[in-house]
Amino acid sequence: MYDVFSLPSITFPKDFLWGSATAGHQIEGDNIHSQMWFDEQQDKFWLDDPGRKFKATSGKACDNYRLYREDVDLLSVLGHQAYRMSIEWSRIEPVEGQWDVSAVNHYIDLLTYLNQRGIQVFVTLHHFTHPLWFEQQGGFRKRENLRYFERYLEYLLPQISGFVNGWNVINEFNLWGGLVPTPETGNLKFNMLRFHALGYHMIKRFSSAPVSSAHAFIHWFPRRYNDTLDRRTTGYVDLITNEFFFHAIRTGELVYPGMDCEYDPEVKGALDFWAVNYYTRHMVDARQASLQGPRFKHKELKMIPMDFYLEEMYPEGLVANLERLTDRPVYITENGCSADDDRFRIVYLALHLSALKEAIERGVDVRGYFYWSLMDNYEWGSFIPRFGLVEVDLKTFKRTPKPSALFYRDIIRENGFGGETVQRYLKELPTLQKGE
Ligand code: FCB
Repeated sequence: MYDVFSLPSITFPKDFLWGSATAGHQIEGDNIHSQMWFDEQQDKFWLDDPGRKFKATSGKACDNYRLYREDVDLLSVLGHQAYRMSIEWSRIEPVEGQWDVSAVNHYIDLLTYLNQRGIQVFVTLHHFTHPLWFEQQGGFRKRENLRYFERYLEYLLPQISGFVNGWNVINEFNLWGGLVPTPETGNLKFNMLRFHALGYHMIKRFSSAPVSSAHAFIHWFPRRYNDTLDRRTTGYVDLITNEFFFHAIRTGELVYPGMDCEYDPEVKGALDFWAVNYYTRHMVDARQASLQGPRFKHKELKMIPMDFYLEEMYPEGLVANLERLTDRPVYITENGCSADDDRFRIVYLALHLSALKEAIERGVDVRGYFYWSLMDNYEWGSFIPRFGLVEVDLKTFKRTPKPSALFYRDIIRENGFGGETVQRYLKELPTLQKGE
């Protein structure tokens, strides 16, 4: 497959920050006031994507709301220097305008414990979930709903800012609204930037830590390279999901197909670092209404027994994407793979960290890396995809680090790795499941 055993030794820049990421709804359990919890009970997926109906409800998830101290201890034992986590708005404001002080205290306790352990904290304020009442008022679709977010942040930020080393206002704000431009999705994309900018400026009042919003940086690829429409559409999709946001942040100009251009001075410059979530590449197929095509079959790795989450390892995409972000520091806020066979994770980590090093050599100012995810968790509809460095028994909630967690611990310790480090953890390359 890939020769990870003879990778050259690499070292990352001094003070490079190593950690892992999670999200509240995916690990805490019983997030009952969120719109996602409500949708799960309705068996309705939040993107209305027919291929990904809810297979399971989040339930207790990893029971992290109860076991959070144990999880911080794990981070510590595994040598993580930083942790990206999210705070659940729906716990703090379960009913419009009513604060649950015990929920705030929970997060303060968690943040304090992380600080005591010397683990830097990157907080995400919105990771796909928000209170059901906010959704019922129109959520991000309505510009006037900015006032709800503002009131919430006004309440929350002064209480937690002292504990936080880095911020993400919204997770993957660029993917809301999908790929096909309509006035509705254009309005949503504009609003995502407005909510982000509001969060950015509010945080600045209370915190000197750098602020961003995580960008799902998908490497789009034409399904048929010789087809002009596929190639042009790929550029178009890239514009809608990637360039629209970069351009808006750099210039304050919101330029989107089918919309009158707007200049928003609040958006211009409202980002201190690029927060990049990168997993793989995706195909653009102009002959599909969704514009999404299948990946190349021969590169699909069936790492879990399921129809979705077929993975393709495409580390080159990381280098190419990052080269577009040389105007600010970069943190990789998510990168990882879902595999039952943990050896795939070791291969994935080795290849993506090598790619990351190449991006640094090409002039990208990458300051840190957060593996997704610390532990196996609730993957928006299913517990089957396992992204974790740590296995979680879903009945007893017992945590068990996998070999990849120890491999990653060694990388952190050495601030780099080489083929020899890989050999310590991988006897042979994993193979695809038979009969697939
Ligand atoms: C990202 C999400 C994260 C997780 C990973 C696998 O898009 O931000 O919550 O689901 O994918």
